[in-house]
Formats: sequence, C-alpha cells, structure tokens
Amino acid sequence: MLYLGVDLGTSSMKVLLVDSSGKVLGSTSQSYPLMMPQPGWSEQDPEQWWSALCVCVPKLLEGVDASQVAGLSVGGQMHGLVALDENDQVIRPAILWNDGRTSTQTDAINNDFGMQKLLELTGNLAFAGFTAPKLLWMRENEPELFAKIRRIMLPKDYIVYRLTGVHCCDYSDASGMLLLDVANRCWSKPLMDYCGVKEEQLGKLFESYENVGTVKPEMSELLGIPATAVVAAGAGDNAAAAVGTGTVGEGSCNISIGTSGTIFIPSKEFKVPSEGNLHAFAHSDGTYHLMGCILAAASAYTWWRRDILKGTSDNEEQQDITLEKLGNNHVYYLPYLMGERSPHNDPFARGAFAGMSLDTTRSDMTQAVMEGVAFAIRDSVEIVRSLGIDINASNLCGGGAKSPIWRQIFANVLKMELTVPDSEEGAGYGAAILAMVAAGEYANVLEACAAMPSGGTKYTPDPEIMARYDERYAQFKAIYPALKPIFPKM
Ligand code: XUL
Repeated sequence: MLYLGVDLGTSSMKVLLVDSSGKVLGSTSQSYPLMMPQPGWSEQDPEQWWSALCVCVPKLLEGVDASQVAGLSVGGQMHGLVALDENDQVIRPAILWNDGRTSTQTDAINNDFGMQKLLELTGNLAFAGFTAPKLLWMRENEPELFAKIRRIMLPKDYIVYRLTGVHCCDYSDASGMLLLDVANRCWSKPLMDYCGVKEEQLGKLFESYENVGTVKPEMSELLGIPATAVVAAGAGDNAAAAVGTGTVGEGSCNISIGTSGTIFIPSKEFKVPSEGNLHAFAHSDGTYHLMGCILAAASAYTWWRRDILKGTSDNEEQQDITLEKLGNNHVYYLPYLMGERSPHNDPFARGAFAGMSLDTTRSDMTQAVMEGVAFAIRDSVEIVRSLGIDINASNLCGGGAKSPIWRQIFANVLKMELTVPDSEEGAGYGAAILAMVAAGEYANVLEACAAMPSGGTKYTPDPEIMARYDERYAQFKAIYPALKPIFPKM
C-alpha cells in the first residue's frame, strides 16, 4: 500500500509518497509567504497551506495508481494559533511559533502561576511562541475577534479538519500549547480558565498514530485519493521528524536544523527539568521527550547567504571553510533574528556579529553564522548534560544537515558523533510512518521504525577541534548577557 506524509513547514509544504516498506517513491513541494506585519511578528494564512496541499497531492499522484493510497498524515510547524468562527472561517492570520509579540502575556502566565505550579500543571513554562500566550494576546488586543472563536487548532489540525471534518489534536503538538496537562494527557482546566477558553473549543485528543477518520468524499475527489484512506492525527514537526529518523526509545537523540533548530531526546518516563529550561512534551510514539528549540537555525544562514550576501550557491559560499579553520575563527555571531526560545526565553533578543577586524573575510563571517547556530544548539545540549543525561551521539536532519562542513562544525561544537541518515526526508517521512500505523500496516511506531530502511553517514568529532571550540564557546556564551539589556531598546 501507499502513504502520503505531509510536512507543513514554515517556508513550504512538502508531501512524500512512501510505500509500506519505507521506500520514498516521490515528493512535491510548494512554498508560501511568511508575513511579518511588525518586527518580531510572524503570521501565515492557513488558506495558503490548504492550497499548497491541493497543488502538491494531485501532482505527486500523477501516473500513480492512487487506489493504493491507504493513509496520510501531517507533521506540522508547532504552536501556531489557528482560530475558526462558527462558520468554520479563519478569523485572522495564524500567529506562528516564531512570533514574539507575546512577551507581556508570557510574563503574566509565568508570574501569575509561578514556575513550580506551571511545571506541575503542564510540565512546561510559558515561552513567547507557545499557543496560550497568543490566546491571551488576542483576548487583550482583538477582543471582538476573540469573542468569535468557535474552534482553536494548530496548523496541521487545520489540514486534518478540512480533510476529515474531525476537530482533533495529537498529544505531541498539543504539548506546545501550554493548555495540556502533559503528564496526564488531558487538557488543563486551570490553563483553559486562565486563557478564557472552553474544552469544546479545543480538539479531541488522540495519539499521533491513531486513526481519526477517513477523508470526506468531496476531498477524496478534489485530491484524487480514495475515500477509504485513513488520516492519522499526525504530530508536531519535531516529533514527526524524530520518528522519520528512527529516534524512538531510550538513549536516542535527534537534532534538526531547519527553519528552527531543535534537540529532541525521547524518554519512556515523563521528566520535567526543575528549571523548566527544556520543553517536556509527549512524543508521537506514545512516550515523551525533552526538547530545546532555537528560533533561527538554517534560516539564520539562509538570511545571511541569500538575503544579505545575495549568494546563489552554498558550495561556493562555504568552499573556503576548511577543517583547519574550525575552532580558529575570531568572529562570533548570535543567531537570534526572531528573539530566542531555548535557553533565553527572550523575544527581544536579536542577531549580532562580534569580533571583526580589518582582515576579516566574507568567509569568516559565513563560518561565524554557521558556528553561531551550532553554539546556540550547544546551549541546550549543556542543559541536557547538566541533567545527567549522557548524549554523545545523535541523528542530524533538516536542511542545515546537507552541508558537509556544517556537519563537522556541529559534531565538534556539540562533541557528539552525528549520523546523517541516507534518505533524510524530515517530518513528512515520519508523518507517513504514523499513517502506516494508523492504517494497521504496523502494530506500533517502534515496530514501523524498525522496518524502515536504515543507514547513514557518521561524523566523528576531533579532540583538537573540540578543545578549540570549547574556548570559542566560552566567548560566545558571554556575548548574550552583555547585550541583553540593550536589545529591548533596539
Ligand atoms: C518547536 C518549534 C519549532 C517549530 C518549527 O517547539 O517551535 O521547531 O515547530 O516548525
């Protein structure tokens, strides 16, 4: 049988066609604009996601026996607020995961509940970008629109709703709303009350691999897939990408360098870091995970190479960055172009270069951008290690994992052996695996992952480069505290 795995990303949607053995038979993608109506704001029109699906799926199925499509699911950008009125119309553009407008509301939640209580209720602290502060922002700033809200959903749930008519949410994505009691896998009454929302406005909760229904007949016709195709609840993109790289079970780790950058550590037990400095979320295989997230990763590099340098080729831009140069760069870069989540929780933070001199080259600055992203991920790795979790190996995926020299930078800055899977297809691949489980092809996610093709290229850190990077990381760490008081005034 065949499965469709949808990756609802921030810059584009990518849809994969995968057979039950995990072989990728084809892929299509469609990009859509990101709207930034004010500095630090980030919005998208949900209709654009839907249109992208309507373009991608029929194109992907051209020349394919579509009667074999048994299921589909979506791995989606997390935390985004999609609000529908009683006629199922989108009330305002979706406010996305990397939107920083909610500093007042984020502080209010953290202060009013207090750290301990919030961790007890949800397993997490409030971060600008999570869904609950966005609801509060809407209530305070757009009260008439807020009053019209009939349904609250996350980006991928909007697609599932249009496909099936079922208003649902899976536990992995719901974890990032700050409305879920993650430990008990149910909506949290105190948080709903605080945000002024009712349970009937939120989706019915499912495991990511559960079948929520089949596609509506009109959607089956529109997209060219059988009306019998089952739709799995799907997952947040990081939980889906983790399934896609086989990051399930204790002792595994996935680092994703996409628009955002994340480190994802599965665990059977629900563990909450006492400082709340890592997210404690549900995984899409029925267990849990810890996660650190930086808001600009590959996007910080793309901004530099494409928008600033107007460079057209990554190879060209990176060709002078040789192994001997790693750990020897005098230039530093903070990648906080959209504020920062882990570990600073600071929507006012911004990007910065430091350390240039008259002999600094374009290549040194490009290297600094790539190193800055790696150092920012190391901040989360340090927290993980301080919790006594021993991570010395990880999978590495996402657009940023395609650069050979960036892989070396990550391995040496993070001091880990990194494996880049041979066929790295991100969240869409994990979404296809979840659909296979929902359709009954495999008994559970663990079994499905074990049946998928494995293999990848390993990158081992070098002791000398690691030592040099340790010194550089100490300097990097000192820059943010020095600039922190200045950022809000900028
Ligand atoms: C995770 C997060 C990002 C988005 C990107 O908490 O905010 O990784 O999911 O799509």
